[in-house]
Amino acid sequence: MLPESPSSSTAIAHGAELLRAGRLVAFPTETVYGLGAHALDERAVARVFEAKGRPRFDPLIVHAADLEGIARLVVRLPPVAERLAARFWPGPLTLVLPKSALVPDLVTAGCPTVALRIPDHPVALELLRVAGIPVAAPSANLFGRISPTTAAHVADQLGDRIDLILDGGPCRVGVESTVLNLAGEVATLLRPGGTPLEEIERLIGRVQIGNSESLPPSSGLASPGTLPQHYAPRTPLFLQGASIHSATPSAGDCPGVRPTGSIGLLAFRAPTDAREFAVVEVLSRHGDLGEAAANFFAALRRLDEAGLEWIVAETFPEVGLGRALNDRLRRAAFRETGSAGG
Ligand code: TXA
Ligand code: MG
Repeated sequence: MLPESPSSSTAIAHGAELLRAGRLVAFPTETVYGLGAHALDERAVARVFEAKGRPRFDPLIVHAADLEGIARLVVRLPPVAERLAARFWPGPLTLVLPKSALVPDLVTAGCPTVALRIPDHPVALELLRVAGIPVAAPSANLFGRISPTTAAHVADQLGDRIDLILDGGPCRVGVESTVLNLAGEVATLLRPGGTPLEEIERLIGRVQIGNSESLPPSSGLASPGTLPQHYAPRTPLFLQGASIHSATPSAGDCPGVRPTGSIGLLAFRAPTDAREFAVVEVLSRHGDLGEAAANFFAALRRLDEAGLEWIVAETFPEVGLGRALNDRLRRAAFRETGSAGG
C-alpha cells in the first residue's frame, strides 16, 4: 500500500510534477482530503472516476490557487460570485457557474456548468501554485463511502490505486464544502457544507434550497452527486429521532426488531446515560458544531470498524454546520433498498 508522504516542499513539488504529468495525487484540504488530477487533461480526469469507482454522471469540483485561476474556467464571474469569493475564498465554499471552453465535458459530466473553489489549506494552495494548473478533486474515498479526513483514511481505501498521498494532518473543518449554484436566476444551495448557509445569506440575501434529489442534472438545479445514499458505513446506521437533550438515548426510529448484537452510538455531545450502547463516540463534549464536524467522519469510521450490528446516530440542531452534518447523516442512514451513491 502507498505510504503517506509528509508534505514537505519537496513532496509537494513532486506531487505537482505528478499532477502535471496526468497522475493522481491525494492532498489535504480544510474540508476533507481530495483526490486530485489535472482538470484540463481528460485522461487524468478519467483516472479519478476509475480509481473511485465513481459513475461518470457525477461531476467533479475544480480547485485553483487564486481568482485568476478560477476566472479562466468560467464564461464570466458575475458580481455575486466576486462578492462571495472576496468573503469566503480561500474556504469551504464551491460555486457552480457556466463553464468556459477550457473545461473538459468529462469534468462536468456533460453539464454546461463547472463547480469551483479555492481551498483553505497551505498544502493544497502550495500544490496548486507549484503545479500551475486547475485540479479536479472529489473527496478521496471510494464512491459512496465515508469521506477521508486523514491521510491514513485515504491510504485505507485508495492506497493501491493512486500515485501519491500528501499528508497534511487531520482536516480542520471535517465536512465537504457548501455547494452553491449561481448559474440560474437565483442562488441555490445544492449541498450544505463547511460554509454556513446563514453566513452566505447575510452577504447575498435569500438562497433557494435546491431539491437536489428529485431534479435531473440537465435541469441545472441538481447537484448530480448528491445521491440519497452516500457517505455510507457498512454497518447499518439509524437516526435517532429524539432531541439531542433527551436523557436516555435509545434506538430511536430504528425498525421494530431489536438487534441481537451490539449497538454503537454516534453522539453529538456527552450523553447522560448510554448504558445500552457497546461503544459511544462523542463528537463534542460541550456541543460545539465546529468540533463535532471536525470529528464526524473519523468517528463514523471507528464505529464502522468496531464490529457492531447497528450504529445509532443523534441528529444535530439544523443551524450552521449542523445542517451539513444532518445531511451527511441522512445520506449515511440505512435503506432497505438503497444503492450506494461519492
Ligand atoms: O470540500 C469539498 O468540496 C471536497 C474537497 C476535496 O474540495 N470535494 C468534494 O468533492 O466534496 P465531491 O466530488 O465529493 O463532491 C462534489 C459535489 C457533488 O455533489 C457534485 O455533484 C457537485 O459537487 N458538483 C460538481 N460539479 C457540479 C455542477 N457542474 N453542477 C452541480 N453540482 C456539481
Ligand atoms: Mg464525496
